[in-house]
This record gives sequence, structure tokens and C-alpha cells, in this order.
Amino acid sequence: MDNRIQMFLNKTIRVILLTLFFYNLNSFSQADKVFNYYLENLEGLSAVYNKEFIIGTAVSYNDINNPKLKKLIKKHYSSITAENEMKPQSLLNNDGSFSWEKADAIMQFAKDNDLMVRGHTLIWHKQTPDWFFRDINGNLLKKEKLYERLYDYIEAVMSRYKDVSVWDVVNEAVSNDHNSDEIYRNKGSMWYEICGDEFIEVAFRYAHSIDSKKKLFYNDFNLTKPKKLRKTIKMLKSLISKGVPIDGIGIQGHLFVYDSPKLLDNTLKNFSKLNLDIQITELDLSFFKGGDMRIHKDFVFDKEQELNQAKAYESVFKTLKKYSDNISSVTFWGVSDLHSWLNYKPIEGRRNYPLLFNDNYLPKFSFFSIYNLK
Ligand code: GLA
Repeated sequence: MDNRIQMFLNKTIRVILLTLFFYNLNSFSQADKVFNYYLENLEGLSAVYNKEFIIGTAVSYNDINNPKLKKLIKKHYSSITAENEMKPQSLLNNDGSFSWEKADAIMQFAKDNDLMVRGHTLIWHKQTPDWFFRDINGNLLKKEKLYERLYDYIEAVMSRYKDVSVWDVVNEAVSNDHNSDEIYRNKGSMWYEICGDEFIEVAFRYAHSIDSKKKLFYNDFNLTKPKKLRKTIKMLKSLISKGVPIDGIGIQGHLFVYDSPKLLDNTLKNFSKLNLDIQITELDLSFFKGGDMRIHKDFVFDKEQELNQAKAYESVFKTLKKYSDNISSVTFWGVSDLHSWLNYKPIEGRRNYPLLFNDNYLPKFSFFSIYNLK
């Protein structure tokens, strides 16, 4: 190539790179300014709702080390739940010893910032190591042996994390199969395979015997689906009638932007009759229906979609406020869309925008729709 053309190209590339650099620098500081403006001028969401219920969020170990997220968490939420760090799979090593570091860091963050903690979760058929259910030869444990292990596990975790105020003792033990009337999840659960449904009550009794001051919750998803709701109510009534020490029901609340508002109302109406505390434990509003595995390549999160979601959040919060006498807390499953689990589940790489803050940690219309709801 001619030298002059080469020099011209080099110069052009340099100019483009420098322009991009300064553009980014500039837009970065603009975003920072807007971030700080909102931080200083908005009231915290948990303060806005302090007469109705506690407002919380899920956090990961990375979140509590992210400067902007840390500021948002302290500003808007008064309770946190570890997104994964307190699940058996995160706490247990293969040799049976514990890895406490990340969960400890989350507990310390809560203490330093005067936040409550929801402990999530002691028992779950997922995210529990397979060896937990087996002897050294790989055979399934007998029920009694598994219960011993369960007791030791609950005792270790609850004794270490005494500052937790509410524990999800059992997560997702009700069948999600809409074609069957079976109440309990019997497929894919080692707990059920070894103990039948009895493990649920055993876990609650153990947890209560270890620390009788903690609030003990059963937590599940799809509770706005009438069939799952009926099954869950049957299970809860059976636990209550046996005198099992259960304090509350956790409605995960992984909802769909276009759900009918009547569904949540019906769920809250029915749970309110049980004389249990109700908490919304994992709230987010997805643009895709649960179970929809399509990639939705053409989906664009534009202002119209943002507005649709804001209306949906408004309607969810109107309903929650209606039942605020029975609901003690509402926890979002994360702060910013950028880090939502829905960006990699159920399919890797499908962008979703289910939360109150956008990828730049700025409040979305959804934030304002519930912030201004009075
Ligand atoms: C369920 C669990 C949570 C979390 C979400 C996905 O709702 O209860 O702990 O794993 O799935 O992030």
C-alpha cells in the first residue's frame, strides 16, 4: 500500500479511537451524574413503604462488591436475601466441610448496613450436592441417616447465622405438574424419593428446635396458578393441623408482565385466610411467560415495553397494598436488569428486563410507578 494512504488510515483510526474514548468518558460521567442525582434526590423505596411492608432484594457476593449496586441496596432496601450463597450447594464442600466465606461476607454486609436477612434456603431438591443423599459407596441413604445429616446441616447453618430473621426452611416441595393432582413434587426430588413428603415437617421441627425465635417459611413459585395454589394450600393446612411450627408462606413472585392482576389477588386472598404471615420473596416481572423457551430474537425493550411493565408493577403493588395487613415483606429478585437470573435462565443469552433499575443502575418507569403509588 502507498505510504501516504497508510499514514492517512493510521491517522483516521487514531482519530476514531480518540473520539470513541472521549465519547465514552463523557457519556460515562453523564451516567454517573444521573446516578448520583437520583441517589441524592429520591427517597429510599423501603422508606416509601415503611408503613406497609419491608422492601428487600436478593444480592450476590458480586453485588455487594459493586460500588453502584452497594449504594442502591443501602438506599432502597432494608432486607437482603443471598441469591445463591446460602444454598446447600454453595455452603457444602465435597468432603462434607463448609465454605462459609461468601455467605459470611453477605451477613457482614447486612450487619454493617443495618439490613435484615432472609435465609434462603435450608432444603431444596435443587442446588444440593448429590453426595448429601448417599453413603460412601454411592448408595442412597436410609431415611434415618438422611435425617441425621439434615439435622447437623440445619444446626450448623442456623447457629452460624443467628442474625437471620426469617428462614426459608423448604423450597419448592409442591408438585408443579399441572396434569396431575399429586400434591408433592415426587419426580426429581431426592428428598421425596428417600423420605416421602415427611421431610417437610421434619425440617420445620428441626429448625424450630434449633432456634425457636426464627420465623420459619415455606417458599414456592407459580403460586398464582390456581392448581398449584390449591395443592400448596392443602399442604399448608396439613402442616398446620399437625402442629408443625410454620410461620409463613413465601410467594416467590416470578411473574409475567402480561399476567392478569386477578391471579395475584386470588392468591393473596386465599393465603390470607390461613393465618400465616405472607412474604413476597423473589419478585420480578419477566417479558416472557414461565416455561417459554423461545429466544425471542426480535424483542426490543423500548419505551412502550418499559411503560407496559411499569403498569404491571403498579397493578402488582396496588394488590400487595390491599393485603398489606397480611404481608410483612416484599423482596425483589435483584436490583438491576443487567444481573438478573432471567438473562441466563431458562435459556442462556435471552435478555430480559424484569427489575426496577436498568443496565446503568438508573430507575426505570417501573421504579417510579411504585414509588409514586399512594
Ligand atoms: C428459584 C429459587 C431461587 C433462585 C431462583 C432463580 O426461585 O428459589 O433461589 O434460584 O429460582 O435465580
